[in-house]
Amino acid sequence: MPSPLFITGATGQIGRWLLHALLLQAPSQPLALALRDPARQLAMLRRWLSARGIADAPLNQMQAHPYCLEDTGAAQALIHQLRPQTLVHLAARFEWGLDATTARRAQLQATAALWEAQTDPGGHAGRFVAVGGYMTQHQPQLAHLGISADGRADWQRVYRRIGAYEASKLETQAHMSALARHLGRPWLCVHPATVCGHAVEGELPAHAALHALCRQLIGGRLQALPGSPHHQLPVVSVDHVAGFLAHLALDPQVQSGDFVLMDQASPSFHALVRELAGSLGVSAPRWTLPLPLMRGLLRLPGLAAWSGTSAESLDFLIRDPAFNTRPAEALSLRWGLQPPPLSQALAATAHFVRQDSGLLNRADLAA
Ligand SMILES: NC(=O)c1ccc[n+]([C@@H]2O[C@H](COP(=O)([O-])OP(=O)(O)OC[C@H]3O[C@@H](n4cnc5c(N)ncnc54)[C@H](OP(=O)(O)O)[C@@H]3O)[C@@H](O)[C@H]2O)c1
Repeated sequence: MPSPLFITGATGQIGRWLLHALLLQAPSQPLALALRDPARQLAMLRRWLSARGIADAPLNQMQAHPYCLEDTGAAQALIHQLRPQTLVHLAARFEWGLDATTARRAQLQATAALWEAQTDPGGHAGRFVAVGGYMTQHQPQLAHLGISADGRADWQRVYRRIGAYEASKLETQAHMSALARHLGRPWLCVHPATVCGHAVEGELPAHAALHALCRQLIGGRLQALPGSPHHQLPVVSVDHVAGFLAHLALDPQVQSGDFVLMDQASPSFHALVRELAGSLGVSAPRWTLPLPLMRGLLRLPGLAAWSGTSAESLDFLIRDPAFNTRPAEALSLRWGLQPPPLSQALAATAHFVRQDSGLLNRADLAA
């Protein structure tokens, strides 16, 4: 029996499509899924994948194991027991409003524990694929926050200045890449831009940034466009992220490196809002508000809840999207992987949210 591919966060936005891509590409590859509620979530994933054309035989390659980000001892014991050749770590507390201790435990400590057990040269020395985020590779923001090239920073200050989710992502990347260098072990991390829905289905969870943005547009709760016409929210479709991760998981030649996934066709943020508004059949705001002012407004009691967003989300808008996407593009080329047209993925995303928010509203009325 080949060693299983171990995946955390398989029920998430990226995880589901990763399973779909893997089961199409390697239907006999055993998959060990680390889930919070193994029996219930495995059954849900089987139904979801089966509805998207995955046959029973590949579905039976999936086994579920109990996993909780916060229980690092149990996670390490599971790795020692299963000895997976490759581990893809997707699970995260992807939420606004976390406190620093919770975010650190769920991101930094959970990643460090899995990486330690998986790559230990005295153990089975397997591959570890982490998922960070594009802001961890955004040099102007790292310099602005005082994060040095070797990962040193006043982290308490960083957590105070930006939200704890994003700060914990930056700290995880800084800490893990420095530790890997120090110990001479590999660090392999994929950094997606903001992930939009699938190019055909558009599906994305209600907590995703673009779902929230579309709901704001539908509800008329985006009164002004934040930032300037030069600000960007780089995006990438979930199909491309999942396809890239599936190839990476199955390609033992790639052992280390940072891979930024972002669609080069990403429009400016204002153009993105107008494009989504057009697909939703609503108007985009005509006025603009500077980011510091918008941030201040969203910190007023009740305003973030009313508008359906958070000041933390504004930290993802950037002015100078100069990222090194060449390593990821070179791998995509080698694997023959092409992103779907971004305009199609954005239109599908908007259509999905329009339908989904109709369902959400009807559920609210019925409650
Ligand atoms: N989506 C994006 O725009 C984006 C962009 C850049 C980077 N990323 C990164 O990509 C990774 C995957 O993102 P995603 O969008 O797929 O996230 P997601 O949809 O929020 O899914 C999160 C996953 O983590 C699991 N999880 C949450 N809390 C857990 C806990 N305490 N113990 C165990 N599992 C837990 C969830 O399981 P349950 O189903 O049980 O809740 C779910 O499977 C994350 O590291 C995220 O930071 C995402």
